[in-house]
Amino acid sequence: MRERRLRRDAIPRHVAVIMDGNGRWAQARGLSRAEGHHAGLESVRAVVRSAHELGIRILTLYAFSSENWSRPKAEVDAVMDLLDRYIDEEVDEVHRNGIQIRTMGQLADVPRRTRQKLDEAVARTAGNDQMVLCFAFSYGARQEIVDAARELAQQVEEGKLRASDIDEKLVSAHLYQPDLPDPDLLIRTGAETRVSNFLLWQIAYSELHFCDVMWPAFRKEDLVNAILDYQARERRFGLTSAQVRSGCPEDA
Ligand code: FPP
Repeated sequence: MRERRLRRDAIPRHVAVIMDGNGRWAQARGLSRAEGHHAGLESVRAVVRSAHELGIRILTLYAFSSENWSRPKAEVDAVMDLLDRYIDEEVDEVHRNGIQIRTMGQLADVPRRTRQKLDEAVARTAGNDQMVLCFAFSYGARQEIVDAARELAQQVEEGKLRASDIDEKLVSAHLYQPDLPDPDLLIRTGAETRVSNFLLWQIAYSELHFCDVMWPAFRKEDLVNAILDYQARERRFGLTSAQVRSGCPEDA
């Protein structure tokens, strides 16, 4: 019903998702946390399909944070296995649908088998242009900014760059996926209202949507609800409402 009211000409180009609530979803059902992540994988499959159907061009999923390494080993192993499984079971369909897989994060810390699978999936789908599916894995936004700062400092040290040349554009160009536009919409599931070290630089002007649905229960209708919420917002990027409506920053 609600989908009919979606404006197809105003679908957010880049949607980023913090997939939270697997553990609580499992706990409420007397299941293990690993079973919660397993159920969360079904939501990943469903949401990738739905995003593709809706015409979202870039979907970035926060699948594992730098901080998640501190969780019990069994839980960490379970998430690695699920990523392996997603790649084994879904890459054929993802590839058929013209979806390009990318990753962002400290992949050097990821077990070799998982890293190889990810690398193969990235290489196999590199020529696709219908949608980008980016897994933030072993990812932390502060580390991403630190890495960019180090690269720029190195260039200054080598005399290739002057400190005064460093601007927002140059910092953006040294992030992990510099050619991706910033997210238009950031969704966090699981009834928490924080951004947890995700895309801190890139979400400066993103619209934020927090929903109570636990990630394993999140489906197309929840994605559509998030987009409807997004479409009801006025994105002003620091301008006044009158300026945005007239389409001219000179107008008061
Ligand atoms: C957060 O929920 C979720 C994670 C840390 C892992 C995300 C993993 C998946 C969605 C499944 C695997 C999919 C891929 C593609 C690897 P939480 O465990 O913090 O939930 P809680 O806050 O209820 O404890």
